[in-house]
Amino acid sequence: MPLYSPSRHPAALPLNIETLRKGLKTERLGLSFHLFDQIPSTNAAALALADQGAPEGTTVLAEAQTQGRGRWGREWISPAGGNLYLSVILRPQTTPSRTGLLSLAGGLAVARAIEEAVGITPRLKWPNDIRIGSKKVSGLLLEGPIYHGRYSHLVIGIGVNVHLSNADLPEELRAGVTSLVHESGRPVDRVRLTQAVLERLEAEYEAFLKGRTDQILISYSALSETLGRSVRIQEKDGFRTGKVVGFTENGGLMIEEADGRRSPIHSEEVIHVR
Ligand code: BTN
Repeated sequence: MPLYSPSRHPAALPLNIETLRKGLKTERLGLSFHLFDQIPSTNAAALALADQGAPEGTTVLAEAQTQGRGRWGREWISPAGGNLYLSVILRPQTTPSRTGLLSLAGGLAVARAIEEAVGITPRLKWPNDIRIGSKKVSGLLLEGPIYHGRYSHLVIGIGVNVHLSNADLPEELRAGVTSLVHESGRPVDRVRLTQAVLERLEAEYEAFLKGRTDQILISYSALSETLGRSVRIQEKDGFRTGKVVGFTENGGLMIEEADGRRSPIHSEEVIHVR
């Protein structure tokens, strides 16, 4: 069954910059928009713009991507037809270790934006897979070059499956992916959703810059589906299992192993066991 059936949902209206600007309540994100019908990747475009000096908050949107990038070098399937592919340039004066927290803050912002614009509260699988039930509806990818131990700039790329159809996906991904129109059974206003993403992202970014780590982690924990779960962590030379007892101030997982030892986990692949 397609996730999105055109007979049940009206076709998505194309995005346009004027409508996106109207009513956008942000002070620095989305003040400058670049909107494309199709490009290889909004992250790649935003990184190039940032390199040429584009200001913080510059936002790149596309109706389709031909080389959408996901985490772990995976492809982010990005057909035309009313999904959201956007990337925002940030210039935090921060060390790479702090970006783990920024990545959680970004996931939290997108989950809250979906709640606000669509009326569904998604949950977060660490670090920032945004899921409804057990299916992924959105993902984030932070990228940026590091000079002298710091990011000169960062791009936060966000993909949201709004109208994605099962037919767009290879067979093996179908069971694990969903879309907002499928879940809500209603049309989704992509302009409002984009604005909500930028507004929520600005608020969480502000909290990050002001060092409000506890505030971010408390809000994140409330939406986390990983907290309290037993997890299996894929490491270079095997697996480790433990129970997630919290998050570290740099956005890592704190796990407790069977012998009671607690250790932070940062970049490994985490699989929920139960
Ligand atoms: C993930 O694997 O969960 C992260 C997916 C991030 C996809 C978005 S779509 C907009 C931006 N441009 C890209 O090429 N990737 C990100």
